[in-house]
Amino acid sequence: MKILVLGGAGYIGSHTVYRLIEQGYKVVVFDNFETGYYEAIHPDAEVYEGDLRNRADIDNVFDEESDIDAVIHFAANSLVGESMVKPLKYYDNNICGTKVLLESMVAHNINRIVFSSTAATYGEPIHTPILENDPTNPTNCYGETKRAMERMFYWTEQAHGMKYVSLRYFNACGAHISGKIGEAHNPESHLIPIILQTANGTRDHISVFGTDYDTPDGTCIRDYIHVTDLAQAHILAVEYLINGGESDIFNLGNGVGFSVKEVIETAKKVTGKEIKVVEENRRAGDPAVLIASSEKAKKVLGWNPQYNELSTIIETAWKWHSTHPNGYKSN
Ligand code: UFG
Repeated sequence: MKILVLGGAGYIGSHTVYRLIEQGYKVVVFDNFETGYYEAIHPDAEVYEGDLRNRADIDNVFDEESDIDAVIHFAANSLVGESMVKPLKYYDNNICGTKVLLESMVAHNINRIVFSSTAATYGEPIHTPILENDPTNPTNCYGETKRAMERMFYWTEQAHGMKYVSLRYFNACGAHISGKIGEAHNPESHLIPIILQTANGTRDHISVFGTDYDTPDGTCIRDYIHVTDLAQAHILAVEYLINGGESDIFNLGNGVGFSVKEVIETAKKVTGKEIKVVEENRRAGDPAVLIASSEKAKKVLGWNPQYNELSTIIETAWKWHSTHPNGYKSN
């Protein structure tokens, strides 16, 4: 079975490529290397450098690799803060890129796609835990473009019969168990990497954004889910579609929330390091609590996350950050 992974040099994409190859799939990676790294790609994957917005680039992959069974689509810009100051960059790359991709897939009769979506499609939740049929009112442009991409799949299915699974992840974190690949954004804005960069001495402190939320310790609560568990969900979604499953949307999280202060305390225990904390004002657009119900993914896809302890998740991330203080070489 051959799978095309778009954005396979990025954080979640590269972990999915490793998992696919570990489970015997043939993998083709397509990436424009704007935010991805060559070193993150498994050596057994076939690699094409190209940009989804250039029809010829993606047509070339389908022409060369005529036996692709399904596409997994991670190729997008994904920083919430950046999307608020550069919204048109997000419309251009995320939406225009996906439009060109779908045109090329239709032309090449490729009719299965698994899509990397986000909890940011929901916006401010109406209850906890969040269910897939809850209202989607994104509060940032990143979430808005992901929601629009989901609707593109919906209408493409109506017209062309292409089947899709959209996976809405909560807070992706952790690293491959080997410590060979991990999380490396530039600039980094996510909580766990910043905490661990403080622990490994790359940063002076971690800023806690807001201590006056309506939560037990006043800091935001999130549902942290290990990247390898996310990777496995993509493989299960591919198998679900290959076995004739209907198009659908699934949340992916552990269903348990941890506050920012709890994450810092756990990281102190795991690393054995002092981690300097500076309390600051709230960051714009952060909901107080985001926790997933993933019952649907467990029931329909048979997903069974293995890394459900926060300390284990942070241990895997620490293995990466403590051995790669500057991320990948080409950082
Ligand atoms: N935080 C800090 N200090 C930091 C970084 C983060 O206190 O230096 C806090 C944030 O305010 C938030 C929590 O830690 O309360 C988690 O923040 P992240 O930036 O790690 O993650 P988000 O919850 O903001 O975003 C994640 C994904 C997005 C996705 C979003 C869905 O990274 O891609 O969930 O709501 F869109």
